[in-house]
Amino acid sequence: MNILVIGSGGREHALCLKLYESDNSNNIYCNPGNPGIQQIAQNVQFDVNNEDLLISFCKDEKIKLVVVGPEQPLAMGIADKLRQNGINCFGPSEYASQLESSKSFAKEFMDEFNIPTASYKTFESKDLSDCFRYIENSDLPIVIKADGLAGGKGVYISNDKNEAKQIAEDFFEGKFGEASKKIVIEQFLDGVEASIFAICDGENFILLPPSQDYKRAKDGDLGLNTGGMGSFSPTPFVDYKILEDVKTKIVSQVLKGMKSRKNRFIGCLFVGIMIVNNKPFVIEFNVRFGDPETQSVLSLIEGDLAKLFYTASIGSLEKNCISIKKDKYACTVILASEGYPENFNKGFEIKGLQNNSSLKDRFIFHAGTKIENNKIVNSGGRVLGITAVANSLKEAKENAYNLAEGIDFENKYYRRDIADSAIK
Ligand SMILES: Nc1ncnc2c1ncn2[C@@H]1O[C@H](COP(=O)(O)OP(=O)(O)O)[C@@H](O)[C@H]1O
Ligand SMILES: [Mg+2]
Repeated sequence: MNILVIGSGGREHALCLKLYESDNSNNIYCNPGNPGIQQIAQNVQFDVNNEDLLISFCKDEKIKLVVVGPEQPLAMGIADKLRQNGINCFGPSEYASQLESSKSFAKEFMDEFNIPTASYKTFESKDLSDCFRYIENSDLPIVIKADGLAGGKGVYISNDKNEAKQIAEDFFEGKFGEASKKIVIEQFLDGVEASIFAICDGENFILLPPSQDYKRAKDGDLGLNTGGMGSFSPTPFVDYKILEDVKTKIVSQVLKGMKSRKNRFIGCLFVGIMIVNNKPFVIEFNVRFGDPETQSVLSLIEGDLAKLFYTASIGSLEKNCISIKKDKYACTVILASEGYPENFNKGFEIKGLQNNSSLKDRFIFHAGTKIENNKIVNSGGRVLGITAVANSLKEAKENAYNLAEGIDFENKYYRRDIADSAIK
């Protein structure tokens, strides 16, 4: 079958690679793709939010399955448009995507379906005095979240009530535009964080190996928040009992809830949890794969991902299309441009990519790269994701770092401590 993947990052490169390796895939297209993806798929460029262009492309190229990487197209209803036109999509409806695109929607949904999460309250700008009173009466630290999509920048954790009030006011005044006109204030949960992906067909699901990502720019979880500087999987902090709770108390409940709301959840449900006293609490849902967790998690998978996604998209998940590599660990280190997530220079040639293109159990996933004068140069903050799979996390880390050191561009920057929290 022919498949269209939407997106351009390391996550999409990892998705395209596994789809490319699947028995049930023929032509793979990626919109807009990147130079790494181009080696295994055909990059195409058109506005995916334009329904006419999207549908005519899918019909012309006989696309049987669309896999959506990022959240924006899902929040804008791409899955609904495709399904209305008879094209299968691995991704949830606009309605179900609110689990990610509106934190207040997600919180109310969790309340209704008894899903464990931090206690909370929602406020709008007209509720300013109520909001301030709530902050006054809250324990520190206080967690303040913009309701809408804010590119991973809409959450503040404050240890000072006056500062918390200021943040709330800035949000109401439109710090993140419409996305922060509504806010969620919630209880701080102290624990270990993990990410779990559930592949869902609306009714049934399978969990992929649990992972952990590193959001801060600098070693020791210092520095600014980024899109993610590395990941590893599986994480030893999620044991069998926690996974059982994630299945029965979280994912099953989401599927049941969405079904009852006539919006069966089809796609990847990303469950971000905080483990407190050995119990999982939902920090957030995403309605698609996470980046850079995907690069680690998918590297641990064998089998036919194309068939898995296709059977999910038609509501009859075949769970044994894939298997998880036994006793293997994956680690992904992001090579970034120095200065990211603020200002950084681009256009530097990336050297050392060719020597490494066929190594076993090691993968170079492209993200912020482009081709300029026949050379691959850095074009974004997060440039490459270097992934290694090995028999222990320690070895996976060492292999990923060895490979990372052999790739060079002028302002290369990366964290040195990815996976350490689980190795020590
Ligand atoms: N209730 C909470 N208690 C403790 N930490 C939290 C809480 N909510 C969020 N965080 C921290 O803030 C980060 C970002 O919050 P999240 O809800 O995942 O928002 P987003 O990913 O949309 O920015 C989380 O990964 C977590 O580290
Ligand atoms: Mg998050």
